[in-house]
Formats: sequence, structure tokens, C-alpha cells
Amino acid sequence: MNFELSEEHKMIQQAARDFAVNELLPGVIERDEKQEFPKEQIKKLGELGFMGMMVDPKYGGAGMDTISYVLAMEEISKIDASVSVCMSVNNSLVCWGLEHYGNETQKQKYLIPLAKGEKIGAFCLSEPEAGSDATSQRTTAIDKGDYYLLNGTKNWITNGSSASTYLVIAQTDVSKGHRGINAFIVEKGWEGFVIGNKENKLGIRGSDTHSLMFTDVKVPKENRIGEDGFGFKFAMSTLSGGRIGIASQALGIASGAFELALKYSKERKAFGKTISEHQAIAFKLADMATQINAARLLCLKAAKIKDEHGDYTEAGAMAKLFASKTAMDVTVEAVQVHGGYGFVKEFHVERLMRDAKITQIYEGTSEIQKIVISRGILK
Ligand code: CAA
Repeated sequence: MNFELSEEHKMIQQAARDFAVNELLPGVIERDEKQEFPKEQIKKLGELGFMGMMVDPKYGGAGMDTISYVLAMEEISKIDASVSVCMSVNNSLVCWGLEHYGNETQKQKYLIPLAKGEKIGAFCLSEPEAGSDATSQRTTAIDKGDYYLLNGTKNWITNGSSASTYLVIAQTDVSKGHRGINAFIVEKGWEGFVIGNKENKLGIRGSDTHSLMFTDVKVPKENRIGEDGFGFKFAMSTLSGGRIGIASQALGIASGAFELALKYSKERKAFGKTISEHQAIAFKLADMATQINAARLLCLKAAKIKDEHGDYTEAGAMAKLFASKTAMDVTVEAVQVHGGYGFVKEFHVERLMRDAKITQIYEGTSEIQKIVISRGILK
């Protein structure tokens, strides 16, 4: 077991860190306040290869491993979790799903521009009445011969309006349960596809989250991913890797807040010494650092299992469960360490605290992660 990062991993980590500090930090408070999608920043991230990190270079990707992805996600999330959620969905749900389950034509047409960061993708599973219970899809795709007729509504879709390529999960035969579900590639602009209003969110306010409405949208048969009935397994297996991305996002939010709290505690004086010299604060810092280290190890372990082609579903769920709780605990404490300054926007920790909460909700709530983990250990 080697806990040291390779020189290559350190370089990728540094490149992501530099990008976050130079390109994301300026304007992050304003983007959050105005709910402004980081369009230019995502474009540059794509040019650096961070939007298709794990995709084979023959499909326009950077050909990196999952460990590199975890390291980059942590660094980007320390500064701007609205950017990192876009990056995570594009990398580990959309690109990964297409690379592993798409056919050659689909990869040539859709994966290459997504992996190069020229286009953005969205993953459309959640519905008004199907969140955790993902088999209860109400969106239907009826087989009409050479096309499917898609009808229904998707909710809380990350990259909802900025995406061009949408992976949409829909029920094609309700009598078959989860085996009657399929996944489709849908393009923005197709007749009958309407993007709903942007959600006004507590956190990750720079990311664009929308509902999507499909009314009699004709989806060509060649846009179905995999064999008939494969859609639920496609979604579950894609989410298994996606959860490593969100765990790394949570890790980054926590470590970003910790770094700010540590710095502040060494500068701020009270009762004749820096607050870091007061045990009440030093103990908080010790707890925060311990949780963050444990979360990082879980993320890297899940990534390593994935890179070695093992079964990473449970490890990814554990990483997400623990890292998202760490993000909540650490950001709340980081605000506390800052006192009154923690409650105002200029000091960044209040934003990180708001951003942290969603990591316990999307790509499966903490309760869903416990279902996945307990099923794994009980089987
Ligand atoms: N990989 C591959 N196949 C899997 C799988 C996995 N990880 N998990 C389950 N399956 C397969 C099972 O083997 C089973 O197949 P068979 O019947 O052939 O054996 C089939 O899928 C059904 O599995 P379950 O019986 O376990 O299904 P379930 O209805 O009990 O649900 C669940 C399991 C874990 C609760 C699942 O519904 C789930 O993960 N729910 C949460 C959904 C979710 O994460 N939504 C997030 C939305 S996306 C998002 O948030 C993106 C974003 O914008 C950031």
C-alpha cells in the first residue's frame, strides 16, 4: 500500500489548484449571488482536459485515471463547487456512461465533443415523483418503429440549460418494471423538448438546475443506449462512479473551508493570543483535519478500486456518505471559527456551508448510500 501520490498525480493536482485560484476565485462570490453559470470558466476547464478526464484520447479525452479525477475535483471544489458539479456530471455520468455503454456511432457523434469540453452533457433521471425510488419513472418512451415517442418531466437537472446533450432515462414498458426502462441520447432543440425555469437554490447557485419537459419528442432508435431494457442498470452503474465524483466534491468543499478556518485562526487574536492557541479552536481544527483525511482516503480508495477494475459501488457509496457528512460538519465549524466574519459573504465559508448540503442529497441521498452499503455487506 502506497499513500504517496505519483509525480504525475501531483502535477495534475497542482494544475487544478492553479486553475481554481487564478480562474475561479475571482468572481466566485458574484456568480453565487447572481446565480450566474460559469460559462467561460467551464470552457477553459475543457481546453485543459478536465471535462473528459478519464475518456480515452481516441474519443477526445485526457486518458487520466480516477485518482487524478478525485484530486482535480477536490481542488476545483475548494474554490467553486458550482463549477465542480458541472465537471462531475459531464465526466463521470455523461462521458463515462457513453464511453462504456454507447456504440461506436454514438461515441463518434456525442462523446468526442463532450470529452473535449466543446459541449456539456446532462444526466436526466430524477422526476417530480421519482428521486430516491428511481424505478418509478413516469417519463415514457413508446416504441414507434424507427423512433421512440418521449413524454414526461425531469426535475433538478444539473446543466439543465447549458447542456447540449442529455441522457434521458424513461420507461418503455411498465409491465417489465426496471427491465422496461431505457436510456436515450436527446439533443437540445429537438421539437417538443422544453427547458423549464432555473431553480433558485440554497447552494451551488452558479450551476444551472432546471426541470425539463418532453412532449411527443421523437427520439431516433439509434439514440437508445445499449440493449432494450438496459436503462436502469445503465443509470445505476453510471451513478456508482458518479458518487466518487460527488464524494470528491464534498471533500473539496470541506478542505476549502478548513484551509480558510486554519488561516483565519492563526491571524485573529482574542484574549491576548491567536484564537488557534485557544484549545476550544485547536480541538475544532483537529476534528476537522481528521475527518477530512478520512474522507480523502475513502475517495482515493474507491478511485483505486475503479482504476483496478474492481467493484467500487460500495466503496463509492461509503466515500460519498462520509465525505458529504464531513463537508457539512467542517463547513459549519469553519463558520463558527470565523465568528461574525463567517456569516458574511466576503469570507467564503458561508457559501461553502450552503454548497455542502447538496452533497448529502444528489446522486443519492445519504440514506440511499446506506441502502447501497448495507446491501453490499449483507449479501
Ligand atoms: N450497478 C449495476 N446494476 C445495478 C446497480 C449498480 N450499482 N445497482 C442495482 N443494479 C441492478 C440490480 O442488479 C438489479 O438487476 P437484476 O434485477 O437484473 O438483478 C436492478 O438494477 C434493480 O436493482 P435493485 O433491486 O437494487 O433496485 P431498487 O429499486 O431496490 O433501487 C436503489 C436501488 C439503490 C435505491 C436505487 O434506486 C438508487 O440508487 N436510487 C437513487 C437514485 C439516485 O441516485 N438519483 C440521483 C439522480 S442523478 C443526479 O443527482 C445527478 C446530478 O444532477 C448531480
